[in-house]
Amino acid sequence: MSLFEWCQWLQHTHFATMIAESDWLFPLIEGSHILALPLSVGMVVIIDLRLLGIAFCGGPGTNFVRNLMRWSSIGFAVMFLTGGLLLITQAGKAYGNAFFRSKLLFLLLLGINAAAYQKLFYPRMAQWDSAGGPPAGAKFCAAFSLVLWIGVIVCGRTMAYQF
Ligand code: HEM
Repeated sequence: MSLFEWCQWLQHTHFATMIAESDWLFPLIEGSHILALPLSVGMVVIIDLRLLGIAFCGGPGTNFVRNLMRWSSIGFAVMFLTGGLLLITQAGKAYGNAFFRSKLLFLLLLGINAAAYQKLFYPRMAQWDSAGGPPAGAKFCAAFSLVLWIGVIVCGRTMAYQF
């Protein structure tokens, strides 16, 4: 069975059909997907703006970032769970959709960018408060993250029009 055939099969399973045909389940899941945006991407945007020195710059950075990351993890768990549930209801349509594929690519790049930031810069964050701000590499990660998140949201919105 090819991946496309598997997606078609998934979309027509009893579970997927039940969600898609329910008067309240699909809107509830989609609403939760959208409501989790400020908790996930919103928190990351605040962190990125602080790293770039544009906004939210007062006070020591380490606790500020750690607190926001804790909340954003909850938001991302909701985004991925609800996103997965939405996906199975339209997996066949999503398979060939350029915006869905771009969204997944952006999410992959975001994962790599976040992992690089965690490994290279996060352990030394406490020193930045006395050193006059984050290094150029950390600022690059923040700017790249902002661009990619805009891409994820634009693709998410656009593909929803096309399904
Ligand atoms: C944190 C990452 C994510 C963000 C920021 C995001 C953002 C969005 C946005 C803005 C929409 C448009 C909602 C609307 O206007 O109706 C959307 C829809 C959608 N998302 Fe996500 N999403 C994320 C993760 C995921 C994941 C991981 C999946 C699946 C694997 C997914 C699957 C979907 C699907 C299938 C829709 C279309 C729902 C419909 O038919 O209306 N999303 N997403």
